[in-house]
Amino acid sequence: MSTAATGHLAGRHIVLGITGGIAAYKSAMLVRLFVKAGAEVQVIMTPNAREFISPVTMSTLSGKPVITEFFSANTGEWHSHVDLGLWADAFVVAPATACTIAKMANGVADNMLVTSYLSTRARVFVAPAMDLDMMAHPSTCRNLDTLRADGCIIIEAASGELASHLSGKGRMEEPEAIAAAVERYFAARCTMSGRKVLITAGPTYERIDPVRFIGNFSSGKMGYALANEAARRGAEVTLVSGPVHPFDTLPGVKVVRVESAREMLDAARRAFSDADVAIFAAAVADYRPERVLDRKAKREHPGEGLDSIKLVKNPDIAATLGACRRPGQTLVGFALETSDAMQNGAEKLVRKGLDAIVINSLQDQGAGFGTDTNKISIMYADGRPTLEFGLKSKADVAADILDNIPTPLPSR
Ligand code: PMT
Repeated sequence: MSTAATGHLAGRHIVLGITGGIAAYKSAMLVRLFVKAGAEVQVIMTPNAREFISPVTMSTLSGKPVITEFFSANTGEWHSHVDLGLWADAFVVAPATACTIAKMANGVADNMLVTSYLSTRARVFVAPAMDLDMMAHPSTCRNLDTLRADGCIIIEAASGELASHLSGKGRMEEPEAIAAAVERYFAARCTMSGRKVLITAGPTYERIDPVRFIGNFSSGKMGYALANEAARRGAEVTLVSGPVHPFDTLPGVKVVRVESAREMLDAARRAFSDADVAIFAAAVADYRPERVLDRKAKREHPGEGLDSIKLVKNPDIAATLGACRRPGQTLVGFALETSDAMQNGAEKLVRKGLDAIVINSLQDQGAGFGTDTNKISIMYADGRPTLEFGLKSKADVAADILDNIPTPLPSR
């Protein structure tokens, strides 16, 4: 089996669309190759595909129920094509019949596969399989050109004996070649291979007594999305995480869990000297109680310390590390603002010795704490124009940030 498996499929979410052609039997091997390489595969079959290969085979190999209809016949559960489209890191249609290619090219969303295709933001791979005359027909050629223009990667059909017993171009490419094409796509996106990346995420908690703390509303979603995207691009990531509910992380992300700002600074400092890139996405408490009470203070006893808590300043992690940076490191901060976002962001960019700052504002709906989306601007220290982005999922925001910060050469 030669998939040129270099690990770039591990952890990827692949939607595999199977349409009604004799080559559907080869899709079973394709699922196996993806799964063996560490990818998660969700199979969608068109109704006709089920005539060629059993959904039981595909669900057994993928480890997930196959989706064919918008609704599950047994439970009435609705399958969300939008969720599926967004879940995918790659969307592969193999085999792709002339009919499905035509529907995809023209947006004819009359089944779960084409509807999910229209909803996906992932790269789409199309492996045509059909008889030679259908393959050569101007209509099929036009539709494939449309798909190419729409950004799909067409995995050209091979020549050979066809199901009709005629010989010519129209055989679906072998599963190994399809898996290798998908893997090459991910390999090319591994723009951070060999880089070490430090990311801070989540809030910090500053203890008042054994049951109370000073904290904030950060969920960690932004920092974890950055860590996963950097790992997806091949980086070795240290994610210093404040107290958040655990999220899934990809292989390549080492999570160091901390509670307070001082613990976060210690952990970040340890990873910083080695790091090529440091991104400070955590919402660090700026102050902590000067004194932590060793037992729960009673509200009925004002003198015990709850009525007035003396606060002292926490270290500024970004500024502390910015002050001891070595040449070649890229440092990126965040600024969470409630007013004058650009002005405040510019001031933090300089004060903390950063190369760039990601500005998000609680004035923008769907941006900031806790949400699955964010809306950012990236401002640079070297004077290049500030970039502004629309509201996107935090995963897409993470990709925008990593696409638009300098990626230094690995330090070793
Ligand atoms: O976690 P989520 O719910 O997904 O929310 C994401 C987020 C809103 C927390 C994130 O997008 C964000 O804006 N993080 C930074 C929040 C913040 O504390 O901003 P700030 O403007 O107070 O701090 C400026 C920069 O200095 C930040 O990079 C911060 O990490 C850093 N800082 C601040 C204080 C401190 N003591 N040490 C620091 O390192």
